[in-house]
Amino acid sequence: MTIKAVVFDAYGTLYDVQSVAAITEEAFPGYGDLITQIWRIKQLEYSWLRSLMGRYEDFSAITRESLNYTLKILGLKFDATAFERIMDKYVHLDLYPEARQALAALKGRKLAILSNGSSDMLNALVKNTGLDSVLDATISIDSKRIFKPSPQAYTLIEERLGVKPTEVLFVSSNPWDAIGAKSFGLNVAWIERVTPEAMALLCQKSDVVAPLTMFKALRMQMDEMDLQPDHRIGALTDLPKLAAV
Ligand code: LAC
Repeated sequence: MTIKAVVFDAYGTLYDVQSVAAITEEAFPGYGDLITQIWRIKQLEYSWLRSLMGRYEDFSAITRESLNYTLKILGLKFDATAFERIMDKYVHLDLYPEARQALAALKGRKLAILSNGSSDMLNALVKNTGLDSVLDATISIDSKRIFKPSPQAYTLIEERLGVKPTEVLFVSSNPWDAIGAKSFGLNVAWIERVTPEAMALLCQKSDVVAPLTMFKALRMQMDEMDLQPDHRIGALTDLPKLAAV
């Protein structure tokens, strides 16, 4: 298997969606973690619902809808300024610490993002974090008007990069995305940032499960379906040895 392209999911994989917590906590002290977790869960849920219903709105719209849902159900009063300040973080998310080193070590292959993010959101985020000089392509699923894990979304990799699925290593920390990419026929590396052992410890330690712990239990453990990633890695810097084969 010659890997000609390494294609990354964006939110949760190269970029830490948990980094919005700094802004949500500043805006609503004491609610930062709760807002962050409900928002991300609802954002993904809306992408799946809209795909199933055939009522596509881009990821910027559903990120707004899910933030609106979250603030309202928590009974938090907000104005447009507060709302936009939180939304703006989505184009300034923190890169995971090892992301730049991992990308540099993968030079020589085509490097790209394939993300549910809208083109505008992704292009701003990639530019703001300086990855526009590192990536060969930043691919939004916008043109397909359906979100990953729909197979239609993953066809964009061959369309835009001119590589076959068997020549691609797809990387995601989102189990649903890793499974979707595997189902489509890509080689898949899933980043297991929270091991089952660590998860069990988190749940045993506290009688009250923190929102972040609940999120990790719901969105950061490999799902029990009839598909599994080809590789489980602990960090992006584990990728070069996989891509070398
Ligand atoms: C992405 C997130 C939603 O597609 O996984 O970047």
